[in-house]
Amino acid sequence: MATVEWVGDGVRLIDQTRLPEQETYVLCTTAEEVAGAIRRMVVRGAPAIGAAAAYGMALAALQGRRSAGAAAIREARPTARDLFWAVELVEQAGDPLEEAHRIARDSVEACRRMGREGAALLPDGARIVTICNTGALAAVDYGTALGVVRAAHEQGKRPFVYVMETRPRAQGARLTTWELRKLGIEHRLIVDSAAGLLLRRGMADVAISGADRVCANGDVVNKIGTYPLALLAREHGVPFYAVAPTSTIDAGCPDGDQVAIEERAPGEVTTFAPSGTEAWNPAFDVTPASLVTALVTERGVLHGALA
Ligand code: MRU
Repeated sequence: MATVEWVGDGVRLIDQTRLPEQETYVLCTTAEEVAGAIRRMVVRGAPAIGAAAAYGMALAALQGRRSAGAAAIREARPTARDLFWAVELVEQAGDPLEEAHRIARDSVEACRRMGREGAALLPDGARIVTICNTGALAAVDYGTALGVVRAAHEQGKRPFVYVMETRPRAQGARLTTWELRKLGIEHRLIVDSAAGLLLRRGMADVAISGADRVCANGDVVNKIGTYPLALLAREHGVPFYAVAPTSTIDAGCPDGDQVAIEERAPGEVTTFAPSGTEAWNPAFDVTPASLVTALVTERGVLHGALA
C-alpha cells in the first residue's frame, strides 16, 4: 500500500473514502484533480496532503499552469499548514518534480525520526488513547502519532491503543483500526464520548494526537475532539503528546484563534437525524499550548511555547 506515489504520468493516491472495504487507487494528472482529491478526502492527513499538493504543483508546472494549479490547491482545504508549505516550496523550486520527490522522501524520514523520539516517552506496555488517523495513510508512510506507537511496537514495548472512532468521518474506526490490525498492534475501538470514562477509570497512560497546524505559542490545531481529549487528559493526570513535523509549525501564526478552521458539509453529521435538520460541522479544534505536555517533532521533543 502506498498513500501518495508518483507513477510517471501523475500522482497515485489510495482512495481513503473507500477503505477499509476496498483498497482502490485514484490517478490524478492535473493540479485540479489533486485539489479535488484533497477536498473529497481521497487523500487526507496533513503530511499526505502536503505531499499530494507538492505533486499537484509539479504537474501544474510541467503543464505550464503554475499559478492556476497553485490557486486550485490552496483552495482545497484551509487548515493543514503542510498544504500551503508544500505549494510554496514547489512554486519556488527550479525543478518542481524533484522538489516534490524531496518533500515526499523527507516526510517519511521525519516520520521515522518522530517515531523514535516519541517512543522514548512511552513506558513498556503503555495504554494509549488516540484520535483520528495519524498512521501511514495520513502521511507518505509510517505516520505521525501512530508512527510513535509503531516505533514503540517495533522496539518490543507492546503498546495497546484505544482508538477513538472520530466522528463524523470515522478516520479512527475505518482507517486506524485497519492500520493497527495490519501492524499487529493490539487495540480497541471506542466511541469518542467514551474517552471520559476511559480516563476516569485509569485505563489509559498516554493521550496522543497529530497536528494540522502548530502556532507560535504552541497551540495545536487538530481533528475536532482533540481539545476535549487534551482537557480530559489534564484532568486525569495523563500526559497529552502532539506529534508533528516542523513543517506543520506556523511561526507566523501567533495562536490557534487565528487559524482558519475548516467547516465541512452538514450532511457528514446528519446521518441519524430527521431530514432537514441543520448542523454545524467544524473539522478541527484548537488545543491550547497549556494542555500539551510536549510536541514531538523530527528535531526533538519540545516543551512549552515555540516563539
Ligand atoms: O480531516 P483529516 O482526516 O485530514 O484530519 C487529519 C488529522 O486531524 C490528523 O490528526 C492530522 O492531519 C495530523 S497527523 C497526520
